Amino acid sequence: MITRDTIAKILDTAQIEDVVRDFVNLKKAGSILKGNCPFHNEKTPSFVVNPNKNIFKCFGCGVGGDSVSFIMEHEKLSFPEALRYLAQKYHIEVEETFTSKEDEHEKNEKDSLLIALNYAAKFYQQQLTQTDDGIAIGLSYFKERGFLDDTIQNFQLGYAPDSFDAFCKQAIADGYNTEILLKAGLIKEKNGKHFDFFRDRVMFPIFNVSGKVVAFGGRMLKSAQADNSGVYNPKYINTSETDVYHKSLVLYGIAQAKADIRKRDVCYLVEGYTDVLSLYQAGIRNVVASSGTALTKEQVQLIKRFTQNIVILYDGDAAGIKAALRGLDIVLEQGLNVKLVLLPDGEDPDSFVKKKGTDATLEFIENNQQDFILFKATQGNIEAKNDPVKKADIIKDIVDSIAKVDDNIKRQLYIKQCAGIVDVPENILINETNKIRTAQLKRAREISQDEKQQLDNYVQIDVDHSQPISKTPKLFYQERDIIRILIEHGESAMTDELSVAEYVIFELVDIEFKNDVFGRVIQLYIDAYRNNTPLEEVKNINHITDIEVKNCLIEIIATPYQLSPNWYAKHEIVVKDANRTYKTDVVSAMNRFRYYKMGEIMQICGEKIKKADESGNYEESTAFILKLMEMKKMQQALAKEIQSVIHPS
Ligand code: UTP
Ligand code: MN
Repeated sequence: MITRDTIAKILDTAQIEDVVRDFVNLKKAGSILKGNCPFHNEKTPSFVVNPNKNIFKCFGCGVGGDSVSFIMEHEKLSFPEALRYLAQKYHIEVEETFTSKEDEHEKNEKDSLLIALNYAAKFYQQQLTQTDDGIAIGLSYFKERGFLDDTIQNFQLGYAPDSFDAFCKQAIADGYNTEILLKAGLIKEKNGKHFDFFRDRVMFPIFNVSGKVVAFGGRMLKSAQADNSGVYNPKYINTSETDVYHKSLVLYGIAQAKADIRKRDVCYLVEGYTDVLSLYQAGIRNVVASSGTALTKEQVQLIKRFTQNIVILYDGDAAGIKAALRGLDIVLEQGLNVKLVLLPDGEDPDSFVKKKGTDATLEFIENNQQDFILFKATQGNIEAKNDPVKKADIIKDIVDSIAKVDDNIKRQLYIKQCAGIVDVPENILINETNKIRTAQLKRAREISQDEKQQLDNYVQIDVDHSQPISKTPKLFYQERDIIRILIEHGESAMTDELSVAEYVIFELVDIEFKNDVFGRVIQLYIDAYRNNTPLEEVKNINHITDIEVKNCLIEIIATPYQLSPNWYAKHEIVVKDANRTYKTDVVSAMNRFRYYKMGEIMQICGEKIKKADESGNYEESTAFILKLMEMKKMQQALAKEIQSVIHPS
């Protein structure tokens, strides 16, 4: 674990402005900075950085936080990973504590492996560009294939010399011990002799998502034939599993592609190293390779950190189609949208883009995207021809895939279309799909007894509200109170840098007002904030054209606090007293509002669960139970913050 001291040091040092500027073009606007939000698409900047508070916030999509959360969100890193990122940026040494000696040992060893792998990458790179053999054999190979210096540099391509142990010797001379080199998969041992695992090959370092070299792929230079000893010599050899390289967790190219995957909101999935390189070189950088193996769940989850959309670009030959189809169910299961582009027979993305160029390739991808499930149905139908046994298999296969689609409407559409393609009555597909889904959902619901009890409690407590939602008067008053606070204290300072109005709209980005008129008042404040309009003008009744809004403001301005304390207590609005500053007034109003808002959402969830359960729709009811649990948790956290006791509504 990173020590508290180090965390504090990082947080103290990291300047939000500085951190964000690496990714967003910021312009000064008074004491704050504005820019286009990197987390959603927008034309007018609603992304705000407050250097004095060291925070950022987007009014468009609601994301906000400090330097660490910005990096976590933007780079899709875990908390410790983000800390390390910032530590590196600011040259802060990261101190760590370890829970046990073994942990420490393990950590040190992993670090040593990474250091050795990085050393090896540098060694192979240097061989490629600075030795006669490297230049004559390796570099000329890459040049022949059309790879430019930039690409070679970006992917740190290299050359492993045609020697029994050149790397091993050099590494030992440079202070690396053989144990680590063995564990990193860089050398092997036979009859007490150490030798280089990669020999006479061009080298493709494999990076993890944070850009560290964790393994290598090495391509042979001669044609793939049996060598003179008669042993088959594969075209590529790859590092086998090590403590830092788990094949199923890594995608080739992800470190270089992640920013573009996010930007374009789609990830192209190809088969080979060279496919990634060629597309990247052609400016199509949102591309990763599964490296010739079936896609794993973890790999799909890795992609999912950056986008929901995958387009699979495979060779249109039989093997390519097979390979593409292997990935299908895993991708569907993870809820991603997946399209398939089959390249003309015999072409892979590498050869295709080199022949046709960037624009034609993008155009081809655009025009030839096929839906994955429909493709499977079509393909299956061709295969089955008139063989009823085969057809049954294929129907089962299709239904398996359809059942993995979570979206109801999408599923129905698939059923309709697939029924047409394989020529079976829709009903059969519907029944089969439902069977699978019911079984799946039942399984998903067979959670531990403990959790189940918890669930039941939540549902029982919150579902059976006698009061219909439409008559939730408390919420009305909570909302009204926030408007009152905006009018009364909007211009006052909430913090050194934020006015009350700013604070309130910052806090409200993720919540909608139930009362339409109040909602429109809030919008006035948000618009004013975005346009830098003085709040005086917002409150200027004479300028308001919306009659309802006008009346609402008049009503609130006219009757701010002449009401009896009982009235406030009844509606759970904080009573003004001398000890309370307007700041606490603001905070508790916001908290109470949130609290009741969540209550309302929970109530809706409760009703939906009931309905779904009655109609046997497990999937829907499960979804709402999860939502309910989440709300409950948030509400409990809020209740703690709210000082006074809240009576159950
Ligand atoms: P390909 O045979 O399509 O290779 O295998 P490629 O990437 O197009 O390479 P070039 O163009 O012939 O140089 C696709 C991927 O499968 C893995 C590699 O990751 C390769 O990039 N593979 C292939 C192996 O791991 N071992 C092999 O023997 C062959
Ligand atoms: Mn190829």
